[in-house]
Amino acid sequence: MSTSKKSAADKTQNTQINQSWGGRFNEPVDAFVARFTASVDFDQRLFKHDIRGSIAHAWMLSDAGVLTDTEAQTITDGLEAIASEIETGKFIWSIALEDVHMNIEAALTAKIGDVGKKLHTGRSRNDQVATDIRLWLRDEIDTIALLLSALQTGMIELASAESDTIMPGFTHLQTAQPVTFGHHLLAWNEMLERDFGRLKDCRKRLNHCPLGAAALAGTTYPINRNHTSTSLNFDKPTENSLDSVSDRDFAIEFCAFASILLTHMSRMSEELILWTSAQFQFIDLPDRFCTGSSIMPQKKNPDVPELVRGKTGRVNGHLVSLLTLMKSQPLAYNKDNQEDKEPLFDTVDTVRDCLRAFADMVPAIEANKAEMYKAAKRGFSTATDLADYLVGTGIPFRDAHEVVGKAVAYGIAESKDLSDMSLEELAQFSDQIKNDVFSVLTLEGSVAARDHIGGTAPTQVKAAAARALEKVGSR
Ligand code: ARG
Repeated sequence: MSTSKKSAADKTQNTQINQSWGGRFNEPVDAFVARFTASVDFDQRLFKHDIRGSIAHAWMLSDAGVLTDTEAQTITDGLEAIASEIETGKFIWSIALEDVHMNIEAALTAKIGDVGKKLHTGRSRNDQVATDIRLWLRDEIDTIALLLSALQTGMIELASAESDTIMPGFTHLQTAQPVTFGHHLLAWNEMLERDFGRLKDCRKRLNHCPLGAAALAGTTYPINRNHTSTSLNFDKPTENSLDSVSDRDFAIEFCAFASILLTHMSRMSEELILWTSAQFQFIDLPDRFCTGSSIMPQKKNPDVPELVRGKTGRVNGHLVSLLTLMKSQPLAYNKDNQEDKEPLFDTVDTVRDCLRAFADMVPAIEANKAEMYKAAKRGFSTATDLADYLVGTGIPFRDAHEVVGKAVAYGIAESKDLSDMSLEELAQFSDQIKNDVFSVLTLEGSVAARDHIGGTAPTQVKAAAARALEKVGSR
């Protein structure tokens, strides 16, 4: 909308004083200010949870004798009708009514008359919004938990299938020791497993009901906070009314979870991108996860992992936004908190999309076993195994290290891997090297020898995958 159009709209909009709080006002709020302070454009997303919270509140009030059962029922019917109007796109949102809460309350009163005005008894938008976001985020967390579990399941199954696929393991991105591709995938799964734990932790801590805190100090009505808490499936009511309306830790905590998760997925993306390159050629991603170039016909770009890596930036940004939003706020509620929603909503959307993309893509990764094997052979990845072999003959490790260093230097000069050297060639570096050395110099021998919990031996990887799958399945 252009500025001139906006100001025309501003002039035509606000001719009336807000009905919800305008009693002490002599003039309507400035039209621009109304737009500036309104949140309805984005917080309408909370409508279902707002209505659910209101219905719970109405029945608590009737239980406490503040409303009659008939009034609570009339309110419930009205709110349910409004929910279906919103769902079918018939509801008209008004900026003048500021936010989702007042839009729905005004529509309720228009629909059922003065009984609608009784709904807000013993409640404030401050505890209302604190409740709504918790209810909304709790549902989103449950969806995200399912997506994360689906991704983990696909990843672990691929790991099990690739438990004996040999690839180079890296430190400093230099070939270090051979590992199996399955082992590498299970390392990724460990990151996700901890992320899942953080998500569950966040859900546990947010699951306390703020309703009843009212504006900040509680309310004089004979409310029953356990009633609303139980009917909204919270674990218990919050302990302190001031904290209840001001706390947004749960949103920050969720964003911290999201940042760490996306950081992990960004690292995975980085590896996928490297591995699909002509320089590595370790894997293929199916065409449906890639795009081409409009100028270079040969290109197949790994867009999905690149975008996930890129989106990590905005999710990290949202975490910083929320931390900064909170850092100087005095107790209790401040309007600043209205700014919590857009970063939180976008974080949820981004996490869901990234998980969905990964859950589809990861099981479809095709390992290029021959290239991985060749690469593992190229970088003297069994040098440590040769040193360990020499230690087995009684040579101190430091001396063995030196001997192998010399053999590697020879290999570089001759362009030969240790396993491709003859016994004669190897024996020039130590007379302790005998014919049995070749069983440890092979890539297969090297990985099989790391046969302990957490090691890369194919049997260990299979067993670890089975354990990981059981953990995910038992959630
Ligand atoms: N739209 C507001 C928010 O998101 C609702 C609470 C408003 N409370 C108030 N006292 N102005 O935070």
